Amino acid sequence: MKEKVLAFLKGQDQYVSGEEISSKLGVTRAGVWKNINKLKEDGYHIESITKRGYRLIATPDVITQSEIASIINTKLLGKDIHYYEKVDSTNEVAKTLAREGAAEGTLIMADKQLMGKGRLGKTWDSPSGTGIWMSLILRPHIIPGQASQLTLLAGLNMCEAIRRVTGLDCKIKWPNDIVINGKKVCGILAEMSAEMDGINHIILGIGVNVNIKSFEGELPHATSLYLESGKTYLRRYIVKEFLHLFEADYMHYKDEKSIAGFLKRYRKNCITLHHDIQVVTSEGKYIAYAKDIAEDGALVVIDSDNNEKTIFSGEVSVRGIYGYI
Ligand code: BTN
Repeated sequence: MKEKVLAFLKGQDQYVSGEEISSKLGVTRAGVWKNINKLKEDGYHIESITKRGYRLIATPDVITQSEIASIINTKLLGKDIHYYEKVDSTNEVAKTLAREGAAEGTLIMADKQLMGKGRLGKTWDSPSGTGIWMSLILRPHIIPGQASQLTLLAGLNMCEAIRRVTGLDCKIKWPNDIVINGKKVCGILAEMSAEMDGINHIILGIGVNVNIKSFEGELPHATSLYLESGKTYLRRYIVKEFLHLFEADYMHYKDEKSIAGFLKRYRKNCITLHHDIQVVTSEGKYIAYAKDIAEDGALVVIDSDNNEKTIFSGEVSVRGIYGYI
């Protein structure tokens, strides 16, 4: 009923009386009053004036199912949204839902994660109300070896979405971290369930540090959109922008099964290219020059012996960018 009262208030540009809400929604006057109070507790600014009624003045920075659903206009991504105030990890919830048959495009969002997961077994700090912690269930008909291409595509789209909403100069650190002024603002963790020749599902987990005010010295290479601009942002508009941009590219990718058509845009946004980088692999570390991004998304480097190498995975640090000085 709270959602119904909210939707009703959103549809009004005038004050609306408790009596009218009560008769239109088939709820008692006491019920209207109770739900208005609940919305106020959630942070909605609702003005109430005697004899005139209620009016919604402002919507807080919430990323609930109804708030996201009311602003997006997508065909696939986010058609089904699961929102949690608190969850261990949206990727874990997504995995369970995917195993139970959740549709492609299902979006899992949380206001806070208790055990957010990062790449390479690291944890991902996910405090309440200040970031975007979300996972998408994807079911593309590609071979498992191509799955990492989707993370490049998602990184590219999130980079562009952040730039469009905030105007900040963000870049992609290959393969899919997003950095601003050399610090990481967004990370992507893709997890896959696959057979030899096909994918059951890919969980695309994305974390964006939006309005985080400090990282308390623990994460020297992390930043947030707030820390880079001094401004706070409504998280739902970044989610919206990303879903719209990524949906168009994802549809295209599903048809083409190749990221070749996106590489021009990717290269333009990629800060790793044409820098000396440190390549960290399971066999050890070496310095190389980042020459290009190959058609399949791999990083082409030239090592100190002038040998060209192609890197498909592993941690790569860029000189001057976080993680390598
Ligand atoms: C990285 O280490 O760069 C990847 C970080 C990914 C974090 C996101 S937040 C939403 C989703 N759920 C998780 O537990 N992790 C990802």
